[in-house]
Amino acid sequence: MPEHNDDHIFYRNPTKFYPTVERGEGVYIYDKSGKRYLDGSGGAVVVSIGHGVPEVREAIFRQASEIAFTHGTQFTSEAAIVLAERIIALCPPSMSRVYYLSGGSEAVETAVKMARQYQVDRGKPSKYKVISRWTSYHGNTLGALALGGHTGRRKYYQPLIQHTPHIVPCYCYRCPFNLQPERCRIECADDLEKTILYEGPDAVSAFIAEPVVGATAGALVPKDGYFQKIREICDRYDVLLIADEVMTGIGRTGKNFALDHWHVVPDMIACAKGMASGYAPVFCVVTNDMIHDTIKKGNGAFVHGHTFSQNPLSCATALAVLDYIGTHDLVKRSARMGDYLLEGLETLYRHPIVGDVRGLGLFAGVEFVKDKNTKEPFDARLKVNALIGARAFAKGLITYPGGGGADGMRGDHSLLAPPYTITEAQIDELVAILDASIGEIARELATRPSPEEGA
Ligand SMILES: Cc1ncc(COP(=O)(O)O)c(C=O)c1O
Repeated sequence: MPEHNDDHIFYRNPTKFYPTVERGEGVYIYDKSGKRYLDGSGGAVVVSIGHGVPEVREAIFRQASEIAFTHGTQFTSEAAIVLAERIIALCPPSMSRVYYLSGGSEAVETAVKMARQYQVDRGKPSKYKVISRWTSYHGNTLGALALGGHTGRRKYYQPLIQHTPHIVPCYCYRCPFNLQPERCRIECADDLEKTILYEGPDAVSAFIAEPVVGATAGALVPKDGYFQKIREICDRYDVLLIADEVMTGIGRTGKNFALDHWHVVPDMIACAKGMASGYAPVFCVVTNDMIHDTIKKGNGAFVHGHTFSQNPLSCATALAVLDYIGTHDLVKRSARMGDYLLEGLETLYRHPIVGDVRGLGLFAGVEFVKDKNTKEPFDARLKVNALIGARAFAKGLITYPGGGGADGMRGDHSLLAPPYTITEAQIDELVAILDASIGEIARELATRPSPEEGA
């Protein structure tokens, strides 16, 4: 196999070889050499209904035949109107407005700007700070990167990103307070209250969090009661709660939105990769009348916008995907298949390097450690997550490897998020390939000198 691609693309990693894809069908992707891959992570937690669905292809063709593009400052469209109605029907009852976008980072930054304009338009211009959490990911544009809590992704750009307050994550396997579950009083949520008080409640506009952390930690499911407490604190100090459901919406965790598991209603939802299953880049911020009407009565217009906001072709595509999810009852299926996946992944505890297995619906993570007893992570230079990801890929399984969960740099995991259409037999195949890949890498690590010894 060649070491890297020899063409004119500026690849994300120019030192890596990327096979050329040919087609996708259901949970499988085929490359030009005919090799088949089980899409165990839906790309980067995007593909919800599987590849090559004819109903979506037909909807795209229909919309493209009518009109593909109009600008959001000039027209609205049937597709955008009906999609908004559909999204609102999936949201908690207080949600009433959809602002369309074409990327997750755009959605996060839009929510932050919407919060800020709301505060100004309601006569609270001193409220501008946005608090977020360490061990989180909100996107790679500079504003979203500032909110994220992943040292490895931030360090190159540190001088360019604004300093914003961060609180500890809700990470039970690595409790920031070193507490055993029976002693836990959800102190990690109290950290929000302390930070609001230190920063000054009059200065804090919003708090943003991923309900289940994805890219930085591998499906970190919060303790029951955590988000209820977060909501109470936000209400106490007049701070908006923004749920970043870019990975978890719609249906990924077995409910429409992950916060639905705890009956917590945010003020804004940034969503969602799974909404269009990768057939089109369409995202949105969902919010309520309080925020919409304050801006309407205040400035009159939301001082924001992007070229592809409200794009008819994207909206028609997402509508077809949501129709498919509804018709085939795929959110319930995600919950059911998620239980089966977690059961399978729990068998991986037999490997000496598997420290934690967790998940909610079809959103699951396996965390790797050097020492199970102490939970000591591997040296980041070993890139254990990438080694396991590459081995699985070579064996025909796509996972979403990640690192930095333990302390910003160290910590390794595999994130699994297959399409909701996956069958039990395909989950068995996923687990078997991951199992073999972890076993091989664990054995190789055991005989390999540590980076210090090798240096
Ligand atoms: C929770 C979360 N928010 C935001 C983003 C950024 O989305 P995008 O890559 O579309 O900008 C991601 C991407 O993985 C994400 O997982």
